[in-house]
Amino acid sequence: MMMKVNGKTKVYGIIGDPVEHSLSPLMQNAAFEALNLNCVYVPFAVVPSNLEAAVKGLFALGVGGFNVTIPHKTAIIPFLDQISGDAELCGAVNTVNCENGRLVGYNTDGIGFIRSLKEDLAFEPQGSRVLLIGAGGAARGALASLCGAGTASIIVANRTRERGDTLIETFCSRFPQLRFESIPLEDLNKNLIRADLVVNTTSVGMGKTSFEALELGAIKDGAAVYDMVYSPPETPLLAAARARNLRCANGLGMLAAQGEAAFKIWTGVDSPLGLMKRELASMF
Ligand code: ATR
Repeated sequence: MMMKVNGKTKVYGIIGDPVEHSLSPLMQNAAFEALNLNCVYVPFAVVPSNLEAAVKGLFALGVGGFNVTIPHKTAIIPFLDQISGDAELCGAVNTVNCENGRLVGYNTDGIGFIRSLKEDLAFEPQGSRVLLIGAGGAARGALASLCGAGTASIIVANRTRERGDTLIETFCSRFPQLRFESIPLEDLNKNLIRADLVVNTTSVGMGKTSFEALELGAIKDGAAVYDMVYSPPETPLLAAARARNLRCANGLGMLAAQGEAAFKIWTGVDSPLGLMKRELASMF
């Protein structure tokens, strides 16, 4: 049932391009309704050339806060008054809160990722060895949060190796106690044996795509596999992991957990336990 909007309704939303596929309105509105908060969450399609005007406009309209998705997560930073340490490390903002007349940017993707690893995979990052596939924005967020969670070593495997090299460079100097390595995607199979956790941060697995040359046979027994893709819910990578009896999870838990963290920043209260994830799961 749709909530009633009145003169006191507080507006939240998400800016992106495209934004119509976003599942955030569904889960955020479900939480507002469940807690009987007079708030509404709406999608705003914002093309890159309108980003600055949109941010100023949202501020001027007095919205409570908003999420930021592709392609604005990095481009928005110059238009904010302040960003959190997490957002600075990731070079990306996914949540903006209007605080005492200032726009403050946060990154809850990393918090969501680590929470999902713990809840959906029973995986403890502390002291672990992780193999990350990809070197884009999602990989950077994952890398930043794994560094903060006490991971011992991280291998980045990327199709364009130079991009992997560049990604780890920044982190090498900031986290000298961690071991970082960048490898080309062709070397993925022979490095699987070194990982306690394999994470796909690329879009491969969406639609009918798959890593054709990936051979999970070499992975350790007891290793875990996380695919940030959640549509389809079981990607070829996850199907292969399940066939090997490995612990595995898709990105739905991360999506729900980043949303819960944003909700807490905006409202100061927790959304009902498990509600956002159940709402998301009902869509598949
Ligand atoms: P995001 O912000 O979602 O991470 P991105 O910055 O465009 O998106 O990065 C996409 C990542 O997926 C990159 O690591 C990309 O590899 P390249 O750096 O070589 O482009 C990876 N990627 C996308 N399509 C891929 C494919 N078909 N096979 C392997 N890697 C792919």
